[in-house]
Amino acid sequence: MLQIRVKPGIEDRIRGFFPWVYRAEIASLSRKPKKGEAVVVRDFAGKFLGYGYINPEVTIAVRILSFNKEEKVTTDLIRRRIKMAYDYRKRLYINSNAFRLIHSEGDLLPGLIVDVYGQYAVIEFTTYGMSLFRETVVEALIEVLNPQGIYEKANQTAVKVEGIDVKEGALWGEVPEIVEIWEHDLRYLINIPQGQKTGFFLDQRNARKLVRGLVEPGDRCLDVFCHTGGFALSMKKMGAKEVRAVDISPLALEVGKENEKVNGLSGIEWICANAFDYLRDLDNKGEEFDVIIIDPPSFAKNRHAVPSAIRGYKELCLRGLKLTKPGGYMAIFSCSFHITADHLLNVMTEASYDVRRQVRVIHTTFQDKDHPWVLQMPNTLYLKGLWVEVI
Ligand SMILES: C[S@@+](CC[C@H](N)C(=O)[O-])C[C@H]1O[C@@H](n2cnc3c(N)ncnc32)[C@H](O)[C@@H]1O
Repeated sequence: MLQIRVKPGIEDRIRGFFPWVYRAEIASLSRKPKKGEAVVVRDFAGKFLGYGYINPEVTIAVRILSFNKEEKVTTDLIRRRIKMAYDYRKRLYINSNAFRLIHSEGDLLPGLIVDVYGQYAVIEFTTYGMSLFRETVVEALIEVLNPQGIYEKANQTAVKVEGIDVKEGALWGEVPEIVEIWEHDLRYLINIPQGQKTGFFLDQRNARKLVRGLVEPGDRCLDVFCHTGGFALSMKKMGAKEVRAVDISPLALEVGKENEKVNGLSGIEWICANAFDYLRDLDNKGEEFDVIIIDPPSFAKNRHAVPSAIRGYKELCLRGLKLTKPGGYMAIFSCSFHITADHLLNVMTEASYDVRRQVRVIHTTFQDKDHPWVLQMPNTLYLKGLWVEVI
């Protein structure tokens, strides 16, 4: 098997179970590597550190799957890990028939995402090395889920960076374009081929439940960056009188409108707009809401983007605080690992000072429990939410 030695000083981090080796950290290779092939990672002196796979063309060159000398990277290991991920999900009693089954490094399967929507599973490969296990992954999913269909979706960024040969479409069985799922007491339509990510933001399930406790019948609510209306529908379900749902994607809003119908709800105002412009207009008009949710896409895809992302969050916090009625609530989320919970707190503190509003933190939330994160790998904790009462 291909052997690599890492530069002196890197071994401690890997012994601490951090599963990535950057290309610049490789001291030597036993021969020219093939893209995706299995590799033994050793320290500079030659001592075993882990087993993984390599893509010499990318910055994160090696992903380690096992730190155990007896546990090589085989199709059996992939099957065992998928079974382990499934057994964990069974214990969660998620109040939905949709859940994340495989959360990449969070399930010790770097490069693999699998979301389950009722009878269907959607796979995304985010590394070339993992995509070579496509057949094994499909077989293991059939075994644990007994699904009606398995669909592969392209993760465009990963395809470009890693050069994955994607087989977009059904890999097994038949998968309809639109699938209906339920979460808590609401139904959602998922457009698998055209929707964002694998079709739905499963990671916000706990937050969509939490918002219900804040909405009173008759309230005026705002769901900014609403996608297909997860928060807006929950607000309406709780009896909000007025709900405005804003997103830039016409397709997401179309699905949102259908979601409203299938749930027998009505009256949500679906607004196709750039959220920054829309919030500025509301602010200029002096509008006020009882509950505001702001759930933007990732503004910081890498650490260099952090300063501009923080400026974006600052603007959203300023507008959100100004638009919240005294005694009302607002929540803001970041789905980028590079923006920490402390960043959000700091931004909110600065914004509350600037708008002269006292603020009380009522909840902090993270990605829901079917998106586990690895303690030794902070990158796996990506979603943070700060919920405040504006006094
Ligand atoms: C993290 S998702 C929101 C998920 C949603 N809260 C849910 O529970 O399903 C972010 C959304 O922001 C939208 N978006 C991205 N940039 C935008 C912008 N400038 N203005 C409005 N919406 C935007 C995307 O279309 C996407 O639907």
